[in-house]
Amino acid sequence: MNNLKDFSSSDCLLELKTDKPTIYFVTPTYFRHVQQAELTRLLHTLVLAGNIHWILVEDSDQRSQLVTELLNKSSHQFKLKSTHLYTPTPISFKTSSSDPSWLKPKGVWQRNEALRWLREQAYSLDLSGTLYFGDDDNTYDLELFDEIRRTRRVSVFPVGLVGGQLVERPLVDKGKVWGFNAKFKPNRKYPIDMAGFAVSLKLLHEKGHKARFDPLVPRGHQETHFLEQLIRGRDELEPMADSCRKILVWHTRTQLPKLNRENLQRT
Ligand code: UGA
Ligand code: MN
Repeated sequence: MNNLKDFSSSDCLLELKTDKPTIYFVTPTYFRHVQQAELTRLLHTLVLAGNIHWILVEDSDQRSQLVTELLNKSSHQFKLKSTHLYTPTPISFKTSSSDPSWLKPKGVWQRNEALRWLREQAYSLDLSGTLYFGDDDNTYDLELFDEIRRTRRVSVFPVGLVGGQLVERPLVDKGKVWGFNAKFKPNRKYPIDMAGFAVSLKLLHEKGHKARFDPLVPRGHQETHFLEQLIRGRDELEPMADSCRKILVWHTRTQLPKLNRENLQRT
């Protein structure tokens, strides 16, 4: 009896959500002691958002048990669609514990692996869907997902707590982006964080054979370099989130836990 009840309620939930276009939510992830906590929190957000296809790409040369079990649970318990990929960052590009966090780009190979998969699967994807690069440690308001789903080509929105500012945002007048408030490298063509834009799958497929991230571009230029392969100028950007006045995503970063009383084998 209980099983029957569970089945019909989750089925109904699924039905309510499938009329929304799919968001292909790409998350690079790597082993550290907070990983399971980060992914659990993100998983719950994605379940609540509805009609998400989570592309989780491990920075590793194999699928880990931790991520495999988390995705199995998310599929059985929450009916979340997901794809589990992996590819390692070459050792010379890995941020080591003595490096400042900004020295080397993160998630580059993993996002490219997700792009490869999206191109390969193009025939079976929801082409009215949207691609979003969502890191495992950010904080996402559920309203963000409604904004992402409105993307026609490339949408942009503010990101809180990033670039040394309370908020980095596109500046909007009469529905058009005319500038950005970013203080960090403001001369970049698109001075925004990875969490501050979304791309329609249709546009990605039109330009899809080329658009990639490049580990060799100058620091902070990943987003600009990627967007330059998709659009010609700022006037093509679609400002979301109440003309970029609302903050719906925060670039939160998790403090490293002190584990000095543990006898750890793997760090
Ligand atoms: C900032 C941006 O918000 C990121 O989108 C960008 O990738 C990053 O800078 C960069 O340096 O390239 P930050 O908080 O410094 O973010 O980066 P992390 O959150 O540590 O890493 C971004 C994503 O890559 C996360 O999902 C993380 O799990 C993953 N990652 C990080 C790996 O897959 N491997 C690593 O070795 C480190
Ligand atoms: Mn982060």
